[in-house]
Amino acid sequence: MVHVLVSLILCLLFMSGGFLTLALKDATMSSCIEEERQALLDVKANLIDLNGILNEWGRKEKKMDCCKWVGVTCNNHTGRVIELDLTFNSSSFVGKISPSLHVLNQLQNIKLSGINFQSIPLPSILGSLSNLQGLEISGANLSGPIPHQLTNLSNLLRLDLSHNSLTGSLPFSFRNLTSLTYLDLSQNQLGGYVAMDLSNNRFEGRVPLLPFRLAALNLSGNREPA
Ligand SMILES: *[C@@H]1O[C@H](CO)[C@@H](O)[C@H](O)[C@H]1NC(C)=O
Ligand SMILES: *[C@@H]1O[C@H](CO)[C@@H](O)[C@H](O)[C@H]1NC(C)=O
Ligand SMILES: *[C@@H]1O[C@H](CO)[C@@H](O)[C@H](O)[C@H]1NC(C)=O
Ligand SMILES: *[C@@H]1O[C@H](CO)[C@@H](O)[C@H](O)[C@H]1NC(C)=O
Ligand SMILES: *[C@@H]1O[C@H](CO)[C@@H](O)[C@H](O)[C@H]1NC(C)=O
Ligand SMILES: *[C@@H]1O[C@H](CO)[C@@H](O)[C@H](O)[C@H]1NC(C)=O
Repeated sequence: MVHVLVSLILCLLFMSGGFLTLALKDATMSSCIEEERQALLDVKANLIDLNGILNEWGRKEKKMDCCKWVGVTCNNHTGRVIELDLTFNSSSFVGKISPSLHVLNQLQNIKLSGINFQSIPLPSILGSLSNLQGLEISGANLSGPIPHQLTNLSNLLRLDLSHNSLTGSLPFSFRNLTSLTYLDLSQNQLGGYVAMDLSNNRFEGRVPLLPFRLAALNLSGNREPA
C-alpha cells in the first residue's frame, strides 16, 4: 500500500514537473531567434522608411523580440518568422529587397505590394524560400525578368506580381507550380508566346489574369468558374 502511494506521489510530481517545463517553454518561446532578427534588421536597412513606420524594429534591449514587430508574424510554437507584410503602409517605403530574406526560410507569406523598389529586378533568392505559399509584390516598381528560380516554390498557392515593369516571358518551368490557385501577372511588359498547361490545378472562379498572348491555356481539370 505504502509502495503504491509512493509511486503515485512520484508519478504526480513527475507530471507536474512536465507541465512546469511546458509552461516555461511557452514563456521563453515568445522571442524570435537572433539570426532571423538580424535578417529582419537587414530588410529594414535596405528600405528608406519615410514615416518611421519601422522605428520599433530595433537593436535596443526592449526591442529584441522581432515577433512583436509590426508587419512580422511568427509561429507561436517555434518562434520562427512565417509572415512579412509591409502593405499596411507601403507608400512609406522606398528601397531594395534585402538578400538576407533567404535566412527567413520558414516564411509562408511575403506581402510587399506597393513599395517602390526603384526598378530593381526580382531577386532570385526568393526561389530558396521553399515554404512560401503567398508572394505578393504588385505595384512595386520591379523590372527585369521573372527569375526561373521561383519555379522552385512548390508550395506556392498565390503569386501576384501584377502592375510592375517585368519583361521577358514566363519561364516554361512555371508549369511545375502545380499548387498555384491564384496567379496575377497582369499590367507588366511580359511578352512572347507561352504554351502553358494549367490543367489539374485548383483554379476557382475567375480565370487568372495572364499578360501575354497564349498559344495554349489548358484549364481542364479545374473547378467550373462560378
Ligand atoms: C502611413 O503612415 C503615415 C505616418 O505614420 C500616416 O500619416 C499615413 O496616414 C499612413 N497611411 C496609411 C494608409 O496608413
Ligand atoms: C498566436 O498567438 C496569438 C496571441 O495569443 C493568437 O492571437 C494567434 O491566433 C496565434 N497564432 C497561431 C498561428 O496560433
Ligand atoms: C521606379 O524607379 C525608378 C528608379 O528609381 C524611378 O525613376 C521611377 O520614378 C519609379 N517609378 C515609379 C512609378 O515610382
Ligand atoms: C531549389 O530547391 C532545391 C531543393 O529544395 C534546392 O536544393 C535548390 O537550392 C533550390 N534552388 C534555388 C535556386 O533556390
Ligand atoms: C519540372 O518538373 C519536372 C517533373 O516533375 C522535372 O523533371 C523538371 O526538372 C522540373 N523543372 C524545373 C525547372 O524544376
Ligand atoms: C488538357 O489537359 C487534360 C488533362 O491533363 C488533357 O486530358 C487534355 O488532352 C488537354 N487538352 C489539350 C488540348 O491539350
